[in-house]
Amino acid sequence: MCGIVGYIGPKQAFPILMKGLYRLEYRGYDSAGIAIVDSDLKLYKTKGKVSDLEKFVQGKDISGTIGIAHTRWATHGEPNDINAHPHYSQSKNLALIHNGIIENYALLKEEMIGRGHQFNSDTDTEVLIHLIEDIQINENVSLEEAVRMALNQVIGAYAILIISRDNPDLLIAARKGSPMVIGIGDDEFFIASDASPIVEFTKEVVYLEEEEIACIRRGEKLKLKTIHNKDKTPFIQSLELNLEALEKGGYEHFMLKEIYEQPQSIMDSMRGRLNAEKGIVKLGGISDYENKLTNAKRIIIIACGTSWHAGLVGEYLFEDLARIPVEVEYASEFRYRHPIINEDDIVIAISQSGETADTLAAIELAKSKGATILGICNVVGSSIARVTHAGSYTHAGPEIGVASTKAFTAQVTLLTLMALDIAHRKGTIEMSRYRQLLNELESIPDKVRETLKVDDQIKELARIYTYARNFLYLGRGYNFPVALEGALKLKEISYIHAEGYPAAEMKHGPIALIDREMPVVVIATNKGTYDKVVSNIQEVKARNGKIIAIVTKGDTAVKKLADYVVEIPETEELFVPLLATVPLQLLSYHIAVMRDCNVDMPRNLAKSVTVE
Ligand code: G6P
Repeated sequence: MCGIVGYIGPKQAFPILMKGLYRLEYRGYDSAGIAIVDSDLKLYKTKGKVSDLEKFVQGKDISGTIGIAHTRWATHGEPNDINAHPHYSQSKNLALIHNGIIENYALLKEEMIGRGHQFNSDTDTEVLIHLIEDIQINENVSLEEAVRMALNQVIGAYAILIISRDNPDLLIAARKGSPMVIGIGDDEFFIASDASPIVEFTKEVVYLEEEEIACIRRGEKLKLKTIHNKDKTPFIQSLELNLEALEKGGYEHFMLKEIYEQPQSIMDSMRGRLNAEKGIVKLGGISDYENKLTNAKRIIIIACGTSWHAGLVGEYLFEDLARIPVEVEYASEFRYRHPIINEDDIVIAISQSGETADTLAAIELAKSKGATILGICNVVGSSIARVTHAGSYTHAGPEIGVASTKAFTAQVTLLTLMALDIAHRKGTIEMSRYRQLLNELESIPDKVRETLKVDDQIKELARIYTYARNFLYLGRGYNFPVALEGALKLKEISYIHAEGYPAAEMKHGPIALIDREMPVVVIATNKGTYDKVVSNIQEVKARNGKIIAIVTKGDTAVKKLADYVVEIPETEELFVPLLATVPLQLLSYHIAVMRDCNVDMPRNLAKSVTVE
């Protein structure tokens, strides 16, 4: 969602800001804009892509060494030139960019209209910058103080940057609920929604905390205070991110690169945590909570989107191996339905970005009821990683493609490690079985590498099925979440309607959709309920549906029935999601490419959903 970049220092701001906007494109957006100060405050914005903004400013005055830039994902007001950020204050002396939502904007707007303010856009953001200037003038206070006072009147979430025509040596940043990172260079500062625009300039960063305001003055040290006027000392951290990880490295799309990175990313998520030879699983980040986890009466998993699907795999794993009851909840439902949360509950929050607003709010709720919250996040230093009691990073590396791929398999890997560790501690698993599973888990990166060899075959399949307007994905047991994830991937990037279903549930509804036009993807690997799935395939065939089956190498029964089979290596039933997901990611990828869709930045979607 909305991306923010800011710069103040000795260099020209424009190229740094534009580069930053390109790096933030992956977050998802529909308009872009920029404001730069030298002798004047210049502001340019347009609907469309960052490249459209770049064309738009050609030949215009873009000089200046302080500036702010923004990609907007529309919430209040349609995506158009006027609603794009930055927004001017009433006098055009100030400019603001904003990520988040000001919930009480309508009331504030009405009050200010009463005082003679005129608004151009439909946004909540414009109201905020008018309010700041209104306070600055009427209360006769500094800009910094006006920002602080205004933020005390605001209900909602924000990450904001403000610059002023009068003071080209001052940039103000503040955050609540939306992320913001400040990079510290030599006499210069780089500010952004995440570290990706910053990493090529400096590795020293400060993550702004909730309700903090940063006063960034040219040639001075960074100053922080809270909106309640308490001074804070900046905590400088070193980024581990490297630049190559943010580039396509020869692949046509980030999504394909990330699919292909999975042997490595799964390995990275196990590195230093799994030692199969010695029979050890060690998750250092949650070691203080091991006993709590082992004795937990219940685990609640909260997440959204693909992370929720990983949570479903987690449910099967924890119940199967560790015999702990698990509930998997959509964070957005959980937070509003008055859930029963006990002090001895363990809540596991799963999030790639670590910024998802609903997941964050669900965590706060569970925390306020005394539950122990553990995080599984990919982005280091993200909000969720910081508000949870403890957690483990997935270490999958930056995921730029909006449709999540390697983060999912890394999340499932971590949940697998957790479940095995607890099962071992609780004694709900035989030692020999435990050792056998650890050995098999260690071989999964190689098996994913082997699975990726189906790519050309999947490309052929994709060619055949680009005509389809609907897809059904079926699976049972561990493969049911895989079916859901396969369907979500296809929807997200190819805009083809797809539904994931438990295979046996098909006869209670979706079977009515089946005809000779309908491709049905079935994950029919050779363990668990295999025979039952074979029967479900027969039900589809009897109605002339087209079966694409994901099977275990050497399968014979499904081969006889299916129109197409894609073979994956043999593995334990509980590790199948780590392999079976891969051909489904590739299928959605190739169909989307053939349909000429924007694979890495699908329409309307955002990578990091910082509004509820
Ligand atoms: C968005 C993304 C999805 C992601 C979901 C949850 O919808 O497009 O790919 O699964 O948010 O995000 P999180 O960062 O919390 O995993």
